[in-house]
Amino acid sequence: MTDAELISTAVSMQERAYVPYSHFPVGAALLCSDGAVFTGCNVENAAYGSTLCAERTALVKAVSEGRTGGFTAIAIAGRGSDFCWPCGACRQMLFEFAPQLRVLAVRGDGAFQFAPLSTLLPCGFGPGSLNF
Ligand code: THU
Repeated sequence: MTDAELISTAVSMQERAYVPYSHFPVGAALLCSDGAVFTGCNVENAAYGSTLCAERTALVKAVSEGRTGGFTAIAIAGRGSDFCWPCGACRQMLFEFAPQLRVLAVRGDGAFQFAPLSTLLPCGFGPGSLNF
């Protein structure tokens, strides 16, 4: 799958977003090395802090289907004028399974920027950090 196709998949997932509070739909598409794609959207909650971001929805879907590695890229698409970079909690969750992940942040006009997760979360705390 090309970056453009992954982005298009993420954009289409905005339609599934449950965003009665922020009215800020986000879609995500997580690509695996074998071509599989796991999608997600943000799912908000009346207890605002219980909201789940689109990236974590996609990641948790993948892990719950038995995928714990081989993730190569994630596209995250918002409708704002800024690129939709992942929040801190999502960076940490993604780092657990894919510290080298390519992150494609998409804004409302379809433009995107790329950064490796290792740049977005330098010196991240991961599974290896628990060794002693
Ligand atoms: N959100 C995401 O789903 N992903 C991000 O990368 C940034 C923020 C959601 C959470 C909330 O539902 C809404 O966007 C506004 O913060």
